[in-house]
Amino acid sequence: MHRDGLPLTLWVIDLNVDPARLASFERDLDDDERHRAARFAFERHRRRFIVRRSARRRILAALTGASPRDVACLEGPTGKPRLAGGGPGFSCSHSGDVAVLLAARDERVGVDVETLDDSRVDVAALSGFVDPLAIAEVAALPAGGTRVTAFFRWWTRVEALGKATGTGITQWPDAVLPASLGVEAELEWPPLGGAGPRWRLRTFRLASSHLVTVVTAADAGDRADAPVVIHVPDDLGTIPLPGGSAPGAVEASAA
Ligand SMILES: CC(C)(COP(=O)(O)OP(=O)(O)OC[C@H]1O[C@@H](n2cnc3c(N)ncnc32)[C@H](O)[C@@H]1OP(=O)(O)O)[C@@H](O)C(=O)NCCC(=O)NCCS
Repeated sequence: MHRDGLPLTLWVIDLNVDPARLASFERDLDDDERHRAARFAFERHRRRFIVRRSARRRILAALTGASPRDVACLEGPTGKPRLAGGGPGFSCSHSGDVAVLLAARDERVGVDVETLDDSRVDVAALSGFVDPLAIAEVAALPAGGTRVTAFFRWWTRVEALGKATGTGITQWPDAVLPASLGVEAELEWPPLGGAGPRWRLRTFRLASSHLVTVVTAADAGDRADAPVVIHVPDDLGTIPLPGGSAPGAVEASAA
C-alpha cells in the first residue's frame, strides 16, 4: 500500500496468545529483539514483547510489501522508531495485553494506550507535565469512572505527544499541557508564541477497558475524526489493511 493512500490507521493486537504459538512469532524477530526478549524477568513480559514486535513487523510488512523479517527500523537519538529507507510513519504502544500500532502518511505521529484501572491512578505522576489546575481537578474527583478517564486522558496525551515529537516524556521537565483541552484539541508544542509546530490530539475509548490518544501534526492533512481501527487476528495471520474487507472504526468513541 502506498503511503499516500494510507488513512490514519490503528491496529489493535491482543498479546494474550497461546504460548504454543510464541515460537512462530519469535521467528520474525532479529537477533537484537531476541536478546531483548530474553532479558525480561517475567514470562508474560517476554511474551508481550515477542508478540508486539512480531505484529509490528507483520503490519509494516503488509504496508510496504516486504517480508516481516526484512522490515528494518531505525531509532532516532531519543528512541523514536522509523522505517529504514522511508515509508509510512508509525508509533506503537502497549498496556497489559493490548498493543496498538498507529500508521500514517506522515512520520509525525504518536499513540499511547492505557488500561482504565482506578488502582493505577497516580495524580502526582502528572506533575510537571500537566497544568496544576487540571491536576487539582482530577485529584478532587471521587474514585471511579470519571476520575480514571480524566487521569488517563492526560496520561495518554502526555505520552502520545512525546512520541509524536520524538522527545519521549523524560525530556520535558517544564512541560505543561493546558487544562482547557477538550476531547479533541490542537495545541502548539513546544510553545513558541505561535512559531512552534502545532499538534492535533484525539482521545477515544477502545472497547470499555482502554483509552487511546493519537497525536498527528496539525498540518499533516489527517483530518478524519478518528483513525480507522483494525483488529489483528490472534494468529497474526493475514494482516488486514484499511480499505480491504476489514471492519472499520466501529468502537472508537469519544472519551
Ligand atoms: C516513549 C515513552 C513515553 C514510552 O512509553 P511506555 O508507556 O513506557 O511504553 P509504550 O508501550 O506506550 O511505548 C513503547 C514504544 O514507544 C516507542 N518509543 C520509545 N521512545 C520513543 C520516542 N522518543 N519517540 C517516539 N516513540 C518512542 C517505541 O516504539 C516503544 O516500543 P518498544 O518498547 O517496542 O521499543 C517513554 O519515553 C517514557 O518516557 N516512558 C516513561 C513512562 C512514564 O513515566 N509515564 C508517566 C506518564 S505521565
